[in-house]
Amino acid sequence: MTDRFSFDLHATDGKARSGVIRTPRGEIRTPAFMPVGTAATVKAMLPESVAATGADILLGNTYHLMLRPTAERIAALGGLHAFMNWDKPILTDSGGFQVMSLAGLRKLTEEGVTFKSHIDGSRHHLSPERSMEIQALLGSDIVMCFDECPALPADRDRIKSSMDLSMRWAQRSRDAFGDRPGHALFGIQQGGLEQDLREESANALRAIEFDGYAVGGLAVGEGQEAMFGVLDYAPDQLPVDKPRYLMGVGKPDDIVGAVKRGIDMMDCVLPSRSGRTGQAFTRHGVVNIKNARHQDDPRPLDEACTCPACRGYSRAYLHHVFRANEMISGMLLTWHNLHYFQDIMAGMRAAISAGSFAAWEAEFHRQRAQGDI
Ligand code: GUN
Ligand code: ZN
Repeated sequence: MTDRFSFDLHATDGKARSGVIRTPRGEIRTPAFMPVGTAATVKAMLPESVAATGADILLGNTYHLMLRPTAERIAALGGLHAFMNWDKPILTDSGGFQVMSLAGLRKLTEEGVTFKSHIDGSRHHLSPERSMEIQALLGSDIVMCFDECPALPADRDRIKSSMDLSMRWAQRSRDAFGDRPGHALFGIQQGGLEQDLREESANALRAIEFDGYAVGGLAVGEGQEAMFGVLDYAPDQLPVDKPRYLMGVGKPDDIVGAVKRGIDMMDCVLPSRSGRTGQAFTRHGVVNIKNARHQDDPRPLDEACTCPACRGYSRAYLHHVFRANEMISGMLLTWHNLHYFQDIMAGMRAAISAGSFAAWEAEFHRQRAQGDI
């Protein structure tokens, strides 16, 4: 165990990288997928079950936790790890992005953002300084800079001024974060789909110096082709010796395409949220368990999967409990989905280490093309 935060690359294969992030709370094998635990829980999962799927790190949200139960309350109860009974690393998003997508009535200034809670309409304020304070109160291991992500579509002037603001906020985040050994601060690149703005943003962040660098402002409706277009150059604009985190991505094929282009970390609500709406991700694509074709099917969701949902239950049972609105439905499908996402990550890590990423990727796409039969 270490008392410092560090990142070691073990292998590269093309642009794909595998390595390990070391933190005092444990190691994060990369490429890493981070399940989302927005409100101090990965919905429908016990923390030990999340760990059993292979997750080394969770994501938490400043925005949700500051509103309920509040960061001060969590700090008084010993911090977020103790509060939610998860002792491995936690990365927290900084709040700005969630304010823009969830909060009511917002007012954005150079200083920060004032907004109304989506829960009870109460007024709140976030700034780089307050976001750093909240993430410290939570005890987050990887703290994200306070940034602004413009809603798309937006014109170039709007993307540019928003990126400039985010870079000034990145400097204020760095200053407010201070020196906290064992805790990391990540910068967030913005710049929309504009290569020169992405470059400017990367240079501004590199000058400030962070422990890791995120690619923000993607997966906001631009589509996979446009996202991959940016990922063809954005990771190369960031330091090679620091982790690169693609925020809010994605579907299994997005994740594979991002790793292929040099991304080390990702997070997405998709596996957990879809699990609760009856969608399962498998090697053969998406399975909608509510579909009547499963009602007499004794086979598991995925013959090759070793998760509890696939080892112990038939499609017919999963279909039944979904239709009957039983809580175990969301529990089993979430477990399966998180297990499948972690299987993909483990497969990619092994392939990168073996220098066989291209073959692994071809097999991944071949199985999906077969479909669920
Ligand atoms: N989550 C997904 N995209 C973003 C982004 O651009 N910024 C932040 N802070 N969080 C995100
Ligand atoms: Zn499974």
